[in-house]
Amino acid sequence: MIEAQDPLGLWKAWYTEAMASERDVPDAMQVATLGQDGRPHLRTVLAKQVDEAGVVFYTNLNSRKGQDLKGDARIAATFHWKSLERQVHVEGRVRPVRSSEADAYFASRPRGSQIGAWASAQSQPVTSRELLERQVAEVSSRFEGREVPRPPHWSGFRIVPERWEFWQGRHDRLHDRFEFLPEGPGWTMRRLQP
Ligand SMILES: Cc1cc2nc3c(=O)[nH]c(=O)nc-3n(C[C@H](O)[C@H](O)[C@H](O)COP(=O)(O)O)c2cc1C
Repeated sequence: MIEAQDPLGLWKAWYTEAMASERDVPDAMQVATLGQDGRPHLRTVLAKQVDEAGVVFYTNLNSRKGQDLKGDARIAATFHWKSLERQVHVEGRVRPVRSSEADAYFASRPRGSQIGAWASAQSQPVTSRELLERQVAEVSSRFEGREVPRPPHWSGFRIVPERWEFWQGRHDRLHDRFEFLPEGPGWTMRRLQP
């Protein structure tokens, strides 16, 4: 079942099964970044595109993760599909997505999310919920009757994979683990002890 050359194919097969069996957000992944002091920072984001080029997520570039990635492009992500007893890790470095790609994705989002992207200075303190809602109202009226453009501070990162690991829970904790590392133009796979 597991092709040594093709971690992306395996990810897609597992994701298809996760979409059928996972109750919520099968596209959610935890991403870890490094702060300037070397501390790991972790949070959940949604993988919006996964293909040969890598794994894409979108966020506010001024957020804590955005700041971290500006200083250090290294990143690690984990998908956990509880219903299947599976997890997939992907490690690598991020590259910014092209503006045209970010524009197209932003345009596909619900208007409320587009307004939120302007209204929320993600990861900054705010004195109250009311102030946040006033910021939303102000942005809503600014863009009334027209399309909401993508904010310059909102875009995507593409994780370019340097390592994949696939984990399948098995009986007696004798889980299957398969690590993929780059080799030539493709990948080499080896089994890891659980
Ligand atoms: C299921 C789920 C999906 C999320 N998806 C995203 C996302 O795609 N992009 C994003 O910026 N934040 C997303 N968030 C919020 C982040 O987890 C996080 O709170 C936010 O990005 C700020 O993180 P930071 O301060 O570390 O930059 C999501 C949270 C959850 C629980």
